[in-house]
Amino acid sequence: MGIEEDDVQTQVAIIGGGPSGLLLSQLLHRVGIDSIVLERKTQDYVLGRIRAGVLEQGLVQLLEQAGCADRLHAEGYVHHGTLVAYGQEMFRIDFTEHTGTPVIVYGQTEVTRDLYAAREAAGGAIDYEVDDVVIHGADSDAPHVTYTVHGEKRRIDCDFIAGCDGFHGVSRQAIPLGLRREYEKVYPFGWLGILSETPPVNHELIYANSERGFALCSMRNDMLSRYYIQCSLSDKPEDWTDEAFWQELKRRIPAEQAEKLVTGPSIEKSIAPLRSFVTEPMRWGRLFLCGDAAHIVPPTGAKGLNTAASDVHYLFNGLRDYYRAGTTDGIDGYSEKALKRIWKAERFSWWFSSMMHRYPDQSEFDLKMQVADLEFLRTNKAAQKAMAENYVGLPY
Ligand code: APR
Ligand code: PHB
Repeated sequence: MGIEEDDVQTQVAIIGGGPSGLLLSQLLHRVGIDSIVLERKTQDYVLGRIRAGVLEQGLVQLLEQAGCADRLHAEGYVHHGTLVAYGQEMFRIDFTEHTGTPVIVYGQTEVTRDLYAAREAAGGAIDYEVDDVVIHGADSDAPHVTYTVHGEKRRIDCDFIAGCDGFHGVSRQAIPLGLRREYEKVYPFGWLGILSETPPVNHELIYANSERGFALCSMRNDMLSRYYIQCSLSDKPEDWTDEAFWQELKRRIPAEQAEKLVTGPSIEKSIAPLRSFVTEPMRWGRLFLCGDAAHIVPPTGAKGLNTAASDVHYLFNGLRDYYRAGTTDGIDGYSEKALKRIWKAERFSWWFSSMMHRYPDQSEFDLKMQVADLEFLRTNKAAQKAMAENYVGLPY
């Protein structure tokens, strides 16, 4: 089929305008590589998603490389450690003591907002509210993507396709089932989260294991707190009044913290399921999967955005080397290299979730193992160093 009037050419077609797609597009732009981002929703809808806001140094450096880190450095909170509680016990993991590296607490919504602003300032091409995205010829040397925008048919001819369209996107499904291996663990509980315009209960995060279930005390800024409690998969947000949430949260964190807790009306309330998921390989021909399109972690270790970032780092460098030097080592090695780091993040997220949550089928022995795990972490510097190294982010 010849090039129709609504056909456009680009070097990299990026499906998905979340953090992965936007960061990749901005990094490519900074080295003169052209891309078009296709986003199913509106920008406001994407920015309306409330997600974890703990940034590893690797992601911070990528955002600096993308020219999008000014607000992050001005408004982000540097955290040198986190608190872990079980029953009335509470101890601190000192990231900076063990690794020399802190993390930065800065909402994913703000990261995405900064990336949208950068793409718009650079005149980046983003099509919103796209439908019927179909990947063609991914296993050829001339792939293209067709889609519609408000019923109008479009086609993009490109050199490469980046599938950054998340867990429910079309990119992963474009890889033939016979070539894909999927690994999944679904957790038997969810996280009920609220946002409240109240001061955080502590200046650092508190991860709490209690006999009533897991709880997490986090924040977005000095007057915006983010709290989670483990809940049943059959729960709905409307089943929980604010008062019921606050009472349950207070019962799951140490009493001295509960006494300090400032409650207030929730401005957002939602339930997220927990899943570990990886698809292999992350490449098929000229299609590369990136971020949630390829893998999911339970939010316990705050690794979702941070593993998307390392994927983007590897893919960006491979594409840059292809266009700059004509070498294919980077893109050829992308999937294997990304998966090595992804599986370590999957392990950490699974381990931390296993230690901090109550599982319906846990035996008394299992509960003793959890306490032994927590006691060992509380008293052993090597264990704390290992946790700190995973939390701040393993090397790219
Ligand atoms: N066509 C175009 N866009 C699509 C399609 C499609 N068929 N399907 C999904 N999308 C869009 C979604 O609307 C979303 O904005 O792709 C984007 C994917 O973004 P994310 O799901 O946020 O995934 P990613 O960019 O990899 O970021 C990973 O986001 O979900 C969190 O916890 C996750 O923090 C992690 C981060
Ligand atoms: C959050 O602030 O939303 C958050 C922080 C840390 C996590 C998960 C979520 O591990």
